[in-house]
Amino acid sequence: MNTTRTQVAIVGAGPAGLTLAHLLHLEGIDSVVLEDRSREYVEARIRAGVLEQAIVDLLVEAGAGERLQREGLVHHGIELQFAGERHRIPLSDLAGGRAIVIYGQTEMVKDLIALRLATGGPLLFEVDNVSVHDLDTGRPVVRYRHDGREEELECDVIAGCDGFHGICRPSIPDGILSEFSREYPFGWLGILAAVAPSSDELVYAHNERGFALLSLRSPELSRLYVQCRPDDDVSEWPDDRVWEELQLRLGLDGWTLAEGPVLEKGVTGMRSYVCEPMRYGRLFIAGDAAHIVPPTGAKGLNLALHDVRVLAEALVDWFRSANPVGLDAYSDTCLRRVWRAEHFSWWMTQMLHRPEEQDAFDLKLQLSQLRYVTSSPAAATALAENYVGLTSL
Ligand code: FAD
Ligand code: PHB
Repeated sequence: MNTTRTQVAIVGAGPAGLTLAHLLHLEGIDSVVLEDRSREYVEARIRAGVLEQAIVDLLVEAGAGERLQREGLVHHGIELQFAGERHRIPLSDLAGGRAIVIYGQTEMVKDLIALRLATGGPLLFEVDNVSVHDLDTGRPVVRYRHDGREEELECDVIAGCDGFHGICRPSIPDGILSEFSREYPFGWLGILAAVAPSSDELVYAHNERGFALLSLRSPELSRLYVQCRPDDDVSEWPDDRVWEELQLRLGLDGWTLAEGPVLEKGVTGMRSYVCEPMRYGRLFIAGDAAHIVPPTGAKGLNLALHDVRVLAEALVDWFRSANPVGLDAYSDTCLRRVWRAEHFSWWMTQMLHRPEEQDAFDLKLQLSQLRYVTSSPAAATALAENYVGLTSL
């Protein structure tokens, strides 16, 4: 077995792992990033698209936001649609001038990979059999297989940035973690379509046929979602059916949704999940590895980057001055924001989705909530400040 050493071993080259590697690099801290998929796969995976202002600022300040600043689309509002009408929530007016930026997670990951390779930092794709060991000692170890060789990576700290289905969280011994979760009886069928977005701003639509969302990726690319069953297979959703449902759910008198070739299609299940604490010994877990939100609040990607910002700052203090305060507070600090986002995402989800058998009382409550949010400045402000991202928590 070949043995190497680094300061921080990072498992997973998603947004969390790649951003952490770069933030540490800027502070002169060495890391090795291990990813089990290929570069092509990671760079093609279509996921989130809404960035909070604070996350844009983080990436720009870290020198990772050059293309994001050029191509990202700044939005100052979103639309909520229900009962045949659209209502604008003026996010920036309500949330101290802050905005959101539309920039695909796929593009962000491409930028971060290019940056990592340009700065010469180790980033290994297609590693197999990743396992983490000796987590409760001062010398944790990651073992993996790469290019047919067994490798051992000694380190000071392991960052588990390997997503919800990764191996880091399950490597924590039984009895340490408390887990909190909720499954929803909904899924999202998402498409990427080669057609100019029919609305300048995102439209979240409550409809008797189920929720729909109009989003975008660029002036030429629309991203659209319809509520489906969580176990629906994409084969049940031929393009014609997707467009038909989108037209029915998003349509308004005097407005039509422009259609175009479907470039990508997939079903995402919806779940809320948190594990506490986000640490075991020298293993720190971040992003989807530690928590999941349903996508209705557009928080998953943002939370992942908030976690690694906190982790990077704590690691700098620890490596530079042997100061453990930040690392000891890591889990509690992150969990405050995580639970806020959990609540917001759950709240948006239950306000906008139609259960298959919804009783009339629940429907009346949803519509009342939507009317309140779109007519009361206080209620709209609560939505806006959560959506653009709370600054103090
Ligand atoms: P990930 O992006 O999951 O990255 C983890 C990385 O670790 C992956 O590259 C994975 O291949 C790698 N990995 C896993 N296991 C191992 C292993 N054993 N060894 C090495 N590497 C490993 N959020 C939104 O806000 N809006 C959306 O529309 C939206 N859509 C989504 C659609 C899907 C299908 C999914 C799964 C998520 C979606 N999310 C969305 C959530 C958002 O994309 C995530 O919150 C975000 O990707 C979290 O980043 P991460 O780096 O923590 O995890
Ligand atoms: C997206 O553009 O993919 C998107 C936008 C808003 C959401 C979720 C996903 O709430």
